[in-house]
Amino acid sequence: MPVKLTVVEGATPLDPDTLAGLKPTYLSNQAELDAAEEANILRALNWAGRERGRDLLRLDYVLQLHRRMFGDVWTWAGTWRRRQTNIGVAPATIPERTQALLSDARYWLANTTYDPDELAVRLHHQMVFIHPFANGNGRHTRLLADLLVASLNRPVFSWGGRSLSAPGELRRSYIDALQRADHGDIVPLLAFARS
Ligand SMILES: Nc1ncnc2c1ncn2[C@@H]1O[C@H](COP(=O)(O)OP(=O)(O)O)[C@@H](O)[C@H]1O
Ligand SMILES: [Mg+2]
Repeated sequence: MPVKLTVVEGATPLDPDTLAGLKPTYLSNQAELDAAEEANILRALNWAGRERGRDLLRLDYVLQLHRRMFGDVWTWAGTWRRRQTNIGVAPATIPERTQALLSDARYWLANTTYDPDELAVRLHHQMVFIHPFANGNGRHTRLLADLLVASLNRPVFSWGGRSLSAPGELRRSYIDALQRADHGDIVPLLAFARS
């Protein structure tokens, strides 16, 4: 039986092809799916901890991190998005846009263009704007930002301190901050990341 999914504001709706990539056969509702993804992400956190010192600003790391976070649950984990979504660039341009962003981030890092928080938050904002994957883009690009600040000896972000997956005021203020960043003002998202 197909899993019934809740539609959350600002979440990428899953098309039938994407849903068909669900690996576990025992899941019957959104809560069970959420829990399976959460367990997968915990294993990915352990993996990322063991892999500390890796170069995070590489395309293969970005793909591998997504596969580690979602690969037990979804067949398409760690592969580029193939469909047009309401958020995100045209699918054909994803690898090139992501590579360009990682090159920018490497330049920012080498030239101390931004402090570590701003570098990581800008990377998060621009990568989630690209929307490289069919789903999990918010969680993946926030974790990438966390790993990046941690690698620069800063504490990981709090991102509002509670789950951003649930609809509500917290998610609304996060999306507002992302939209302000779309319009060139990174300050609200920087503040949100440490709130
Ligand atoms: N209007 C928006 N403008 C920019 N980014 C958005 C917007 N709405 C959602 N996002 C970003 O996209 C993410 C949702 O994408 P999705 O692939 O479903 O990730 P996840 O499954 O981890 O929540 C949000 O967490 C947020 O980072
Ligand atoms: Mg989602």
